[in-house]
Amino acid sequence: MEQRAHWGSRLGFILAAAGSAVGLGNIWKFPYITGENGGGAFVVVYLLCVMLVGLPVMVAEILIGRSTQGSPARAFRTLAGKGSPWISMGWLGVASAFVILSYYSVVAGWSLHFTYLSLTGNLVNLVPAEFEPLFESMYASPGLNLTWHAVFIGLTMAVVLGGVSKGVERWSRILMPALFVMMLILLAKAFTLDGFDRAVDFMFGFRTDKLTGAGALEALGHAFFSLSLGMGAMLTYGSYLRKDDDIMGASITITALDTAVAIAASMILFPILFTHNMEAAQGPGLVFISIPIAFSQMAGGAYLAPIFFGLLVFAALTSAISMLEVTTSSFIDGNSWSRKKATLLAGGLIFLVGIPSALSGGTALFGSNIEGLVGKNWFDSFDYLATNWMLPLGGLGIAVYTAWRMNEAIRHDHFLAGSKLRHFYKIWLLLLKFLVPVAIILIFLHAIGLV
Ligand code: TRP
Repeated sequence: MEQRAHWGSRLGFILAAAGSAVGLGNIWKFPYITGENGGGAFVVVYLLCVMLVGLPVMVAEILIGRSTQGSPARAFRTLAGKGSPWISMGWLGVASAFVILSYYSVVAGWSLHFTYLSLTGNLVNLVPAEFEPLFESMYASPGLNLTWHAVFIGLTMAVVLGGVSKGVERWSRILMPALFVMMLILLAKAFTLDGFDRAVDFMFGFRTDKLTGAGALEALGHAFFSLSLGMGAMLTYGSYLRKDDDIMGASITITALDTAVAIAASMILFPILFTHNMEAAQGPGLVFISIPIAFSQMAGGAYLAPIFFGLLVFAALTSAISMLEVTTSSFIDGNSWSRKKATLLAGGLIFLVGIPSALSGGTALFGSNIEGLVGKNWFDSFDYLATNWMLPLGGLGIAVYTAWRMNEAIRHDHFLAGSKLRHFYKIWLLLLKFLVPVAIILIFLHAIGLV
């Protein structure tokens, strides 16, 4: 058997894992759900969910990966034994990777399209009323959606083909610092805008009146999604770690980076919106309609727009890489395939699974027809299925296994190896045993309408 690949350095692992976490979820979704839930109180609830629920699950995932040195299904087989039902948790993760990456790639494709439009100067010479039709016509175009979906999956495959340290790690080392620089440029601009103070008040002024129970659960679900949990992505990345790396310390760093980027993205978007007298609660069109309008009217907007959309693309790419890596690494482990064969097959299949999502805006077949059936188009159904059911279920399995089933000696050993944070062990285990499962079960009860 081939020797397992490893990261070249601790920083490389942190950048790759932070790259997985920082994605469209941070820059596209977090600001708009914060807007819809009225800011302030929602942000506080989100931070609590991240620290008390997300962080413990991340530690568990990385720990399972590192202690078994295997992709999700292999990891559960090593721990729970051949034929154990726990192995299905691993395959659930692969299924989630398929479902999420297939529609994630479509949104990433829109970001590529807007990067292209902004680089070619096609976003600056429009009047405000033209931006909504611009987005709508792209959304409805099968050709554009399929082309950019293919380009994006192709880019993701190109990186994963390179392997763990020469592909994933190398590109994370390039894309993540670039992403941080792009964010700083945009933040500096946002800081000079009139709307900055209002944005600070919106984000950090504590108003409880807008927050609903449903909003709190949305925060919890989003914490999972944003930290890339419940699918085995962190597990897989953890499996490329060597034994002397500090899991707890790394998880804190990754979580802090992810949260900082989500807040920074909001502090870029809201000042822009408020300065141009636009609403915070606009839903998914926020980055593709309102923001381009604002850039078209802003001094320097012609240069800032490509930076912003490039940022979206970079963030999406490092996240997509982690999702494809879950599938690729499972195919390699499960069938002793070469990385090349596994990547080409996984990427090709995910492209195919994404076709209905790419066509959701433009064809009745995957748009209105299935909307008539389940109340959502194909794209939204995949998002709903994965975020509300598959990821929480995966997270629940990982938490329950680690807290209630895993061998105490292995668990304790791996938590402590390389870590100075030994006093966190007890509280981590306590959260994982009780708070995490209860929180996840609440997500389910909410999804079926009981809470
Ligand atoms: N965390 C990424 C984002 O915020 C998305 C993502 C990447 C993800 N890998 C994942 C979500 C694994 C769940 C599971 O956009």
